Amino acid sequence: MNVLYSSNLTVHDYCRLRKSVDFYDIPEDHVKRALERSDFITSAIVDNLTVGMARIIEDGTQALVMDVVVDPEYQGNGIGRGLMESIRDYIESSDYDRMIVNLITDETKTAFYEKLGYQKEEGMRLWLERLS
Ligand SMILES: CC(C)(COP(=O)(O)OP(=O)(O)OC[C@H]1O[C@@H](n2cnc3c(N)ncnc32)[C@H](O)[C@@H]1OP(=O)(O)O)[C@@H](O)C(=O)NCCC(=O)NCCS
Repeated sequence: MNVLYSSNLTVHDYCRLRKSVDFYDIPEDHVKRALERSDFITSAIVDNLTVGMARIIEDGTQALVMDVVVDPEYQGNGIGRGLMESIRDYIESSDYDRMIVNLITDETKTAFYEKLGYQKEEGMRLWLERLS
């Protein structure tokens, strides 16, 4: 499969990809703002169709990986790995001495991230406050 990686991602493709994996909906104007404020975006394109995406926000000391999604019809072809490698390339090409890369995921994706070198932080729990 010929996969191109790009830094372009439209609001429409972002929403379509989230929907393809049953992630909750985000209003389009919020998506537009989120993409504009992202520090790095990568998308995967097959036959002119955007089939995967990932993005980060970072401050030079820490980065948060968000929205790692591959369209289910294209999963299992190394695209998720390719997206995460694009993120690593971006961070490694920066001038930072040290960077902690964080991400949030559930137990079903543990093996995917472990294969990429991530380690689960035992004892840590996710805390959220939902503001309207
Ligand atoms: C997680 C996800 C991005 C993986 O994308 P993908 O393109 O299928 O992954 P890849 O084909 O690049 O897989 C890379 C490696 O991880 C393994 N892997 C991928 N998903 C896995 C899973 N759920 N469980 C165990 N191993 C997995 C693959 O077997 C492969 O191993 P290999 O290199 O030894 O062959 C994709 O399943 C997805 O979009 N899931 C729904 C959205 C989601 O939950 N995203 C992550 C949380 S933000």
